[in-house]
Amino acid sequence: MFFSSVLRYALFLLAPLSFLLTTYLYLYPVFHLCAFPSPEQDARSEYLSTVRQHTPFLAPDTNKIAPFRLLALGDPQLEGESSLYDIVDSVNLPNLKKFWKDALLLDGTRHNPLQRVRHSLHDLIDFFLEDLPNSFEVWRKRLDHIGNDYYLGHIYRTLHWWTKPTHVTVLGDLVGSQWIDDEEFGVRAWRFWNRVFRGGRRVEDELYTQPSGDFQGTLVLGQDAAAWKRRIINVAGNHDIGYAGDLSPDRMSRFTKLFGKANYELRFQLPFDTNTTTNDVENGERPPPEIRLIVLNDMNLDTPASSRELQDETYGFLNDVITSSKEVTRPAHFTLVLTHIPLFKEAGVCVDGPFFDFFDGEFSNGVKEQNHLSMDASKGFLEGVFGMSGSENVPGHGFGRNGVILNGHDHEGCNVYHYINQSQPPEREWKATTWSKALSVGITDEPGVPGLREITVRSMMGDFAGNAGLMSLWFDEEEWDWRFEFVNCGLGTQHIWWLVHIVDLITLGVSVVYGGFLLMQRTTLSISSLNKSVPRKPVQNGNARKEKGSQDRPDIAGVKIALGSNGHSYVSGAGTGSLRKRASKTSLNGGPHSPSSPFRG
Ligand SMILES: *[C@@H]1O[C@H](CO)[C@@H](O)[C@H](O)[C@H]1NC(C)=O
Ligand SMILES: *[C@@H]1O[C@H](CO)[C@@H](O)[C@H](O)[C@H]1NC(C)=O
Repeated sequence: MFFSSVLRYALFLLAPLSFLLTTYLYLYPVFHLCAFPSPEQDARSEYLSTVRQHTPFLAPDTNKIAPFRLLALGDPQLEGESSLYDIVDSVNLPNLKKFWKDALLLDGTRHNPLQRVRHSLHDLIDFFLEDLPNSFEVWRKRLDHIGNDYYLGHIYRTLHWWTKPTHVTVLGDLVGSQWIDDEEFGVRAWRFWNRVFRGGRRVEDELYTQPSGDFQGTLVLGQDAAAWKRRIINVAGNHDIGYAGDLSPDRMSRFTKLFGKANYELRFQLPFDTNTTTNDVENGERPPPEIRLIVLNDMNLDTPASSRELQDETYGFLNDVITSSKEVTRPAHFTLVLTHIPLFKEAGVCVDGPFFDFFDGEFSNGVKEQNHLSMDASKGFLEGVFGMSGSENVPGHGFGRNGVILNGHDHEGCNVYHYINQSQPPEREWKATTWSKALSVGITDEPGVPGLREITVRSMMGDFAGNAGLMSLWFDEEEWDWRFEFVNCGLGTQHIWWLVHIVDLITLGVSVVYGGFLLMQRTTLSISSLNKSVPRKPVQNGNARKEKGSQDRPDIAGVKIALGSNGHSYVSGAGTGSLRKRASKTSLNGGPHSPSSPFRG
C-alpha cells in the first residue's frame, strides 16, 4: 500500500510538471514571443500574424509577411572526440586487463609471487584512479555531445516550424575545430545533417552562380519555396577550413563536399505587380526589385595566407562581385553579405576587440587567429562591395548600395553601424558604433555620413543561450527600395533542455513502474478470488506464521510470492503431493490467503 501511494503521489506531482515543462520547451518561440519582423514594424502585430499562420481556416495576411525571411544561426561548433584524444582509450579499461594478465600469469613471465602481487595491486590502483575516472569522463562527454546535438536541433526544428523562414543560413564554425582528421570531420558532418539540421540539405551545385552583372540565373523569390526552406546556406568558418595560415586545399575540399561552396552568389528577384509600374520600369525609374546574396569566405582576405591559390580564388571572386555590381544609383537592389569574421572596429564597440596572431616558422607565417578583419579588408567591403565613399563627388554621393552584412565568429553577438564622415577631411576614416547608439545620436540620418549595418549573430551554443537571428527583408513600394529588420530569439541554456528531458524520463519511469504495479495487483486479485473456490487444506500448517511474515515484508516481494503461491495452490487443488508441499511453503511468506495481505482489496 505504502509503495503504491508513494508512486501515485509522485506521479500526481510529476505528470503536470512534466507536461508544463515539455510544453514550454517544445513551444518556446511561442512563449518567448518570437516572430519575424514585418513591414508593419510592430512586434505585437508581427507576433499575432505568426499566430495567425498557425491557425487553421485563417488565411495568412500576406501584406504583413516579409517575402524574404532568413533564419540566421551562428557558430554551432559541434565538438567531438578530438578533445578526448588523450583519454579515449580508457573506455577499454586497459589497467583492468593488465591486472588479469598479471594476476593470472597470462603474459608468460615468471615473476615470483611477491612481484606478482605488487604488479597486480599496481594495476588495480591504476584501474580505480585512472581507467574509471577517465572512462567516466569519456562517456560523460559523449553523452554531452549527443545531448548538445539534439539541443541545437531543437532550436532549428522548433524555430523553423514556428517562424516559417524562407531561407536558412549557418554563419560559419559548423564544427569545433579545423585540426580534426577527415574521419572525424565526416562524423561531425553526419551529426550536423542528421541531428542538428535534420531535414536540411546543402545548396545544390547547380544553384551556385558566379558574379554577373546581368543577373543571369536569377531566382524568383517565392518560387521553389519548399526546397529553399530546407536548404541550409552554409558559410565557411575558421574552425571549418582554418584561418589564412592553416587554410589548405584539403580542408577546403572536404568542407565543400559536405557543406557547400565557400564563395558564391545567389540572385533573387521579387515578382511584383507590373500593372502599375510597367511604364516606370520601362523608363528605368522603377526597376525590378532584386536581392543579391553573397556568400563569402573571408578567412583569407588578410595576409599572409599559406595557400596563395585559395587566396587568389577569394580575391578573384570578390573582384568579380565588385566589377559586376549594378550602378550604386540603381534603386530596388539589396546586397546581403553572409560571411564569418566580422569587420574591423575599435575595442569597446563589441565584446571582441581587434586581435591578430600569426604562425611563427610554419604555415608560411600566416594568420593563426584573428577577431576582426584588418582595417583595409573591411574598407574593401564597405567601399568595394557596397560602393560607399568618403567623398561626396562620386556617383550616389558616396552613399553606396543598400544592404547589410551578417556574420558570426565572436559568439557574443553585436549590432554595429559603420560610417564615414564626409565632412571631416582630410582623414575621413571609417568608424563604427553600436546600432542603438547610431540611432539615438542620429548618425543614420545625418547628411554627408554614409553608413552600413553589420550584424554579428550571437552563437546558437548553449553557453550563449541558444540564440537565433530572424532577419526580414521586404520591399517598400513607396520608396521603391528594400528595407530590413533583425531580431534575436533565444531558447535559454542547454541545462533547460536537459532538465526537461530528465524530468520527462523520471515521470515516464515512475509511470511504467506504477502501471506495472497496478497490473500485478489486478492479476493477484483476480487469481486470489479464484483461489476461494479451491480447497485450502494443504496450506493449513503455514497459517500460524504467515501473518507475521506478511506484515513485515515489503509489498514488492509480496507480489512475487503471492503469485507463486497462487499458482501452486491452484495446482495443489488437483492433488499432486510435491506441489502441495511447495505451495504450503510459499504461503508461509504471506500469500493472498493471509488476512493482512496488502493485496486484499
Ligand atoms: C491594373 O490597373 C487597373 C487600372 O489602374 C486596375 O483597374 C486593375 O485592377 C489593375 N489590375 C491588377 C491586377 O492590379
Ligand atoms: C561629421 O563632421 C562634422 C564636421 O566636423 C561634425 O559636425 C559632425 O558632428 C560629424 N558627424 C559625426 C557623426 O561624426
